[in-house]
Amino acid sequence: MKRIIVVLMTLLPCFAFAAGSSVPLDKANYDLSDQASLQTGAKLFMNYCSGCHSTQYQRYERVARDLGIPNELMQENLMFIKDTKIGALMENSMSEELGAKWFGATPPDLTLVARVRGADWLYTYLRGFYEDPSRPFGVNNTVFKDVGMPHVLQELQGVPRKAFETQLIDGEQKEVYVGIRADGSGEMSSDEYDKAVLDLVNFMVYSGEPMQLERRSMGWWVMGFLVIFTILAVLLKKEYFRDLH
Ligand code: HEC
Repeated sequence: MKRIIVVLMTLLPCFAFAAGSSVPLDKANYDLSDQASLQTGAKLFMNYCSGCHSTQYQRYERVARDLGIPNELMQENLMFIKDTKIGALMENSMSEELGAKWFGATPPDLTLVARVRGADWLYTYLRGFYEDPSRPFGVNNTVFKDVGMPHVLQELQGVPRKAFETQLIDGEQKEVYVGIRADGSGEMSSDEYDKAVLDLVNFMVYSGEPMQLERRSMGWWVMGFLVIFTILAVLLKKEYFRDLH
């Protein structure tokens, strides 16, 4: 009996998670080979997210190298904790207790979030905040009900509200939810905002698996090697067969 309870307890988070993702997710067409997008993503992340969230399983230096950002630029523009060395882990200065006190939940480390939640979930989540005066920060989220995180990208998106349209369904006029629309007070248009979020997601996917970038560039070396090897083999074959005829 005890064992059954333990198994059930372990499985419980899976059910909770499955329930959470019953909202349809939008597809995140991110592109790890798009360096400009990764750089923009890193910039947005450091400016809008790193105050609360660490990505403490990676180092500034590695990110700078992988994304083609010169160390000095990284240090001057993207490293905000005083006296941090370029070789340091990307921790943040907020303690767990403070986070829990301010937001009711500690902002989790985000190094591996794309692997845990998936890129589509992240893309939908960051575009899923909507105005909800009943919440402490005045916002709720379509895929993360009663989220403890404020809508930190509001200055870019504007104030997002749930939009409804009256549609004729089975001969009756009904109010139908048609998605989230921003009020136009943000710095970005809705397409620009989607692109910015996609860049952020791209960066988070990269964070979760930095080797993916390396594997890609390695792939080109391997292809190059194979091409040269094939040419050599053909030449060699010609050389051998010349003597046979
Ligand atoms: C002001 C602090 C703060 C900032 C800034 C912030 N977050 Fe959060 N974030 C939180 C808190 C608190 C939670 C936990 C919410 C909860 O559990 O209810 C959270 C949760 C999350 C989650 C859900 C993690 C999970 O798997 O449960 C993601 C993803 C996330 N944040 C991404 C971001 C991104 C991307 C940015 C930058 C655009 C950002 N956050 C900026 C406070 C913040």
